Amino acid sequence: MAHLLTKTATEPTFNEAVALLKQDRLVAFPTETVYGLGANACSDSAIKRIYEVKQRPAGNPLITHIYSADQAAIYAKLSLLAEQAMLHFWPGPLTLVLPRGENCPISMLCSAGLPTLTLRCPAHLVARELLRRAQMPIAAPSANPSGRISPTCAHHVAQAFADMPMGPDLIIAGGRSAVGLESTVLDLSDPATPRLLRPGSILQEELEQVLGVRLTAQEASHTTTSPLITAPGQLSSHYAPTLPVRLNVLNPQPDEIYLAFGPTLNTNAAHTLNLSEQGDLAEAAHNLFDYLHMADKLALTANDASNPAIAAIAVAPIPATGLGLALNDRLKRAAAPRPS
Ligand code: TXA
Ligand code: MG
Repeated sequence: MAHLLTKTATEPTFNEAVALLKQDRLVAFPTETVYGLGANACSDSAIKRIYEVKQRPAGNPLITHIYSADQAAIYAKLSLLAEQAMLHFWPGPLTLVLPRGENCPISMLCSAGLPTLTLRCPAHLVARELLRRAQMPIAAPSANPSGRISPTCAHHVAQAFADMPMGPDLIIAGGRSAVGLESTVLDLSDPATPRLLRPGSILQEELEQVLGVRLTAQEASHTTTSPLITAPGQLSSHYAPTLPVRLNVLNPQPDEIYLAFGPTLNTNAAHTLNLSEQGDLAEAAHNLFDYLHMADKLALTANDASNPAIAAIAVAPIPATGLGLALNDRLKRAAAPRPS
């Protein structure tokens, strides 16, 4: 990709972004979770372009971003439960899988063969301003090539597509994403059996308390051979850095980059990056993808005589409670065997 344009969120940038979206081009933009790769959700050709640029498998559906909860009824069938979830958590990092509405104008390609539509109303001011000005629903997966680490700043997006044949036509910079992990995905397509498909910063217990329901546990991993995937992001290798990842490590090796958690003494690791000295899960979530990106970069520059080659990323144990569940979910996928 020869020219990747990153611009700050000014009036002319928004104007350019809206013009590009209207021409079925792709605009990467910040959200509070991760950066998204946005396109006009109602245009087949724009959505095709997202799949092409990300090299995303066609069976993996996209999230459509909307400006406000009021717009959800235009696109999806809403149950009482969905209304309650939107009222309480939107705008914010909760994504809802809902039955597609009749005459829904959103491209069928966003649903990837499923009878459902996935909606999210982001809280980030730049995302909101873009949605307000564009006056269209914006489909946006995370702005990374398929299977790679999600971007939490504009620089990650530019870097990730630098060597790819295609990329976003514009990247709107908006600082580091506050949450740092992708949104919680809640499947309300059958309100009788609400399911948590992807853990995120809105926790299962919070959802259960507010909605007054029990969520069924996330389904066991799907295989790539499933004919219809309910939540494809759930499986296997995903969010993968270039380096192999080892989990629950207390004693890293000298050829490893160590992602520590909590107070750490000196380790033998080649480099140590602490996700949170205080052992704070929100801080660790905010830092995780950034540190995985950084580790990959360190490994690239380490292969000279003064620096031994880096063999892997070793990650300290992270408690599997609260936000720790989402962190461990992403780490497990980063460590999963890669497709060859
Ligand atoms: O925080 C986020 O959600 C970010 C920002 C940009 O909004 N977006 C994001 O999109 O993470 P993506 O495409 O990287 O992840 C969406 C996940 C995928 O695992 C996809 O399989 C699942 O949501 N998904 C989307 N539509 C679905 C549907 N109809 N049924 C089940 N899973 C769905
Ligand atoms: Mg993604």
